[in-house]
Amino acid sequence: MQIAPSILNADFARLGDELQRIANADWAHIDVMDNHFVPNLTIGLPVVESLLAVSPIPLDCHLMIDDPDRWAPAYAEAGAGSVTFHVEAAKDPVRLARNLRAAGARASMALKPGTPFGPYADLLPELDMILVMTVEPGFGGQSFMADQMPKVREVRSAVERFGGEVWIQVDGGVSAKTIEQCAEAGADVFVAGSAVYGADDAAAAVDELRRLALR
Ligand code: DX5
Ligand code: ZN
Repeated sequence: MQIAPSILNADFARLGDELQRIANADWAHIDVMDNHFVPNLTIGLPVVESLLAVSPIPLDCHLMIDDPDRWAPAYAEAGAGSVTFHVEAAKDPVRLARNLRAAGARASMALKPGTPFGPYADLLPELDMILVMTVEPGFGGQSFMADQMPKVREVRSAVERFGGEVWIQVDGGVSAKTIEQCAEAGADVFVAGSAVYGADDAAAAVDELRRLALR
């Protein structure tokens, strides 16, 4: 069970300090957007490289970008602990996942709310994590989509059948109100942006989410 605060709602003028505020979390979730795959633009590799140099915890890079086959391995080579690509954007997800692992990162595949898991179930042996999006990717602070819980259950069943260690991450609208149903459905890595950086005490918010997910 792991908590990964998203820095999308942090103060981008002082990202290094913002990472120190969540030093008790397991991962810092870094949302990379290119204004093509999603209608929003954030940060790219140069900023991620700078964050890697100062972060007290490993970085979990969520790449909401076109052509991840070309761009994602560089994040792994830079030292990101986990790199997530969107399967909707990948040309050759198996080859990409192998490249990420070869570069030393955990390889992770994301599914938008409208993307089913079934057609990609065969990819499980190539992956260390599946991200089930619980909002349409692009913006923080959106409402949690409870209708994605059946997909989380489906992935959990497939992971149990496969028998390997594949984490299941949920991202979007995860808060003290919604984290328990995610855990109950089988998720074990929880991304929370506004629920952590919108709180006065971000570290306390992380602890509270952890407590609720373990209940
Ligand atoms: C959405 C991002 C999420 C989001 C999380 O496209 O991938 O990581 O910023 O923020 P909240 O928790 O506010 O939905
Ligand atoms: Zn994200």
